[in-house]
Amino acid sequence: MEKSVATLSEFEAEAVRFASQLMPHEQATLVTLSGELGAGKTAFAKAIARALGIEEIVTSPTFVLEKIYLLPEEKAFNYGMPKPSFKRLVHIDAYRLERGSDLNALGFDELVRDADNLILLEWPEKVADALPAPAVRIALASHPDGSRTISYG
Ligand SMILES: Nc1ncnc2c1ncn2[C@@H]1O[C@H](COP(=O)(O)OP(=O)(O)O)[C@@H](O)[C@H]1O
Ligand SMILES: [Mg+2]
Repeated sequence: MEKSVATLSEFEAEAVRFASQLMPHEQATLVTLSGELGAGKTAFAKAIARALGIEEIVTSPTFVLEKIYLLPEEKAFNYGMPKPSFKRLVHIDAYRLERGSDLNALGFDELVRDADNLILLEWPEKVADALPAPAVRIALASHPDGSRTISYG
């Protein structure tokens, strides 16, 4: 599926729509974010973080590599049924990593085993050899007019 958005606010709204339909699995839910520098990977992750109730927002994750946020308790209900929800949002930027084994230092294996984790990973290409199959692969592209294309695979 592919979506085109013209503005940053439409882009953020699309990120929120996407995140709202994610549900925990047996293992962590891994969502990879691909695209050139400036395509909007971090902006996408930030919009999801905000929608999940995180107020203290990511500084520059390219320098931080990994941030783990404890999510506030889910109060939303779907048709009267409590919606299963994630307990943690893990935001990883692999831009500065060289190989999959560099993820060991981030405790990645353990994070992946925990179904309570939603993991958003920028630059999956850098660590492809160590990644389990993502739940969703997102590819972002920016265009000269500032619009963005978001592809879900
Ligand atoms: N329509 C848009 N969608 C997403 N980002 C946009 C848009 N218009 C402008 N931007 C800006 O583009 C930049 C994208 O940067 P960032 O998310 O850090 O990219 P990446 O993480 O892919 O390198 C942000 O500063 C964001 O505010
Ligand atoms: Mg980024």
